[in-house]
Amino acid sequence: MSSRVRFGLIGFGAWGGHHANAIAQSKGAELVAIAAPSTTSQENARARFPTARIFDDYRKLLEDPNVECVDIVVPSYLHYEIASAAIQSGRHVLLEKPMAVTVADCSELIQLAARQKVIFSVGHELRLSSMWGLAKQMIDDGQIGEPLYALVELSRNPYRLGSGGWRYNIQQVGNWILEEPIHFFDLARWYLSRSGNPTRVYATANSSQSGHPELQDNFSAILNFEGGAYAVVTQTLCAFEHHQTVKITGTGGALWASWSGAMDRTRHPTFSLRAFDGKTVHNVDIAKMTGELFELEDQIEVFANAIRHGAPLHCTAEDGRWSVAMCLAAQASVERGLPVAMQDFMGQT
Ligand SMILES: NC(=O)c1ccc[n+]([C@@H]2O[C@H](COP(=O)([O-])OP(=O)(O)OC[C@H]3O[C@@H](n4cnc5c(N)ncnc54)[C@H](OP(=O)(O)O)[C@@H]3O)[C@@H](O)[C@H]2O)c1
Repeated sequence: MSSRVRFGLIGFGAWGGHHANAIAQSKGAELVAIAAPSTTSQENARARFPTARIFDDYRKLLEDPNVECVDIVVPSYLHYEIASAAIQSGRHVLLEKPMAVTVADCSELIQLAARQKVIFSVGHELRLSSMWGLAKQMIDDGQIGEPLYALVELSRNPYRLGSGGWRYNIQQVGNWILEEPIHFFDLARWYLSRSGNPTRVYATANSSQSGHPELQDNFSAILNFEGGAYAVVTQTLCAFEHHQTVKITGTGGALWASWSGAMDRTRHPTFSLRAFDGKTVHNVDIAKMTGELFELEDQIEVFANAIRHGAPLHCTAEDGRWSVAMCLAAQASVERGLPVAMQDFMGQT
C-alpha cells in the first residue's frame, strides 16, 4: 500500500481547485482522481493535474478502486447525496462545510459512517489556524480564567455566484448563515466549550439584495451556553476586503485576535493576537502564517494522518452537525423574530 493516502476529489470549482492544490502538494496525500460535471472543469482539471483520472460523474469516481478517500467540495445542497454515496462505497470522507443543509441529514451521515466504520471529517479548517487555534489553546490553558464572552465578527465583500448560480438560489444554498457565519458559530462553540453546549440563539438579519430578503448579507446572533457564557456572531457582506476579529473575555483576562487581507484567499494577510492577563497586555507570537489557504493545506494533512496513523481529527462530524444546527436555529430566530432553543434543532435525528 502506498504510504500516501490516495484522494479522489469531487467538485473542481473555486474552492475545489484549492483543495486539489493542497492535496497535490501534501506530503501525506496523492491526488488520483477528480470528478466534475462540466467539460470546462474537466479540461481545466486535466490540464492542471495530468496524472489524475478525470470523471464526468462522481459515481464513476467512486467505482475507481484506486480511490482510498474522498474529498467533497460541491454546492451545499449536494453534500448529503454525494457524502452518503461515498460513505456507502466504504471511503473515508472529508466533506466541506456545511456538513448538510438539514440536521436530519447530518445525523443520517453520522450513523452511516459509524456503520461503515469510515473516518468522517468536516471542513471547518479555521480550527487549524496558527492564530485562531492558539487562542483556543490559551483559553484551554486557563490564561483568561473561565471564558464568559466571545465576539466573532467578519466584514467582507459580496459572495461569488458559484457554479450555476447555486449560492444565490435559496433552495440550493440552504441559507446564507450556512455559508460564512457557520465557521464563526463553530469557533464560538469551540472557544466557549468550557461553558457546556449552546442552549439558545437569538438572531437578526437584513438584505441589500434588491427583491431578495432571503439573501441576508448583514447577520448578527447571540448564542447562549449552558454555563452562562455567550457569544456574538456577526457579519456584513456589504463591505470591502476581508477582515475578521475575535474578542474573548474571561474571569481572568482577555484575547483580541484580528486578521485582514485584500481577500479571504490571500497569502499575504496581516494578523495579530493580543492577550491581557488581568494586569498587562502583550502581543502573542504566532508561529506561522494564518489564512484559509494555509489551514486548508493543514486540513488535508490532518485528514491523511487520521487515515494512515489514527491521528485525531480537527473537526468531527458531530462538530459539523452542531454547526449546521446553530445556523438553522439562527435562521428560525431571524424568521420568527424571537429567541429559539437549541434543543429543538439538535433533537432531530
Ligand atoms: N471551508 C471553507 O472555507 C469554504 C470556502 C469556500 C467554499 N466552501 C464550500 O465548498 C463547497 C463548494 O464551494 P465552491 O465555492 O467551490 O463552489 P463552486 O465554485 O460553485 O464549485 C462547485 C463545484 O462543484 C461541482 N459540481 C456541481 N454538481 C456536481 C455534481 N453533481 N458532481 C460533482 N461535482 C459537482 C461544480 O462542477 P462544474 O464546475 O463542472 O459546474 C463545481 O466544480 C460549498 O459547499 C461551499 O460552502 C467552503
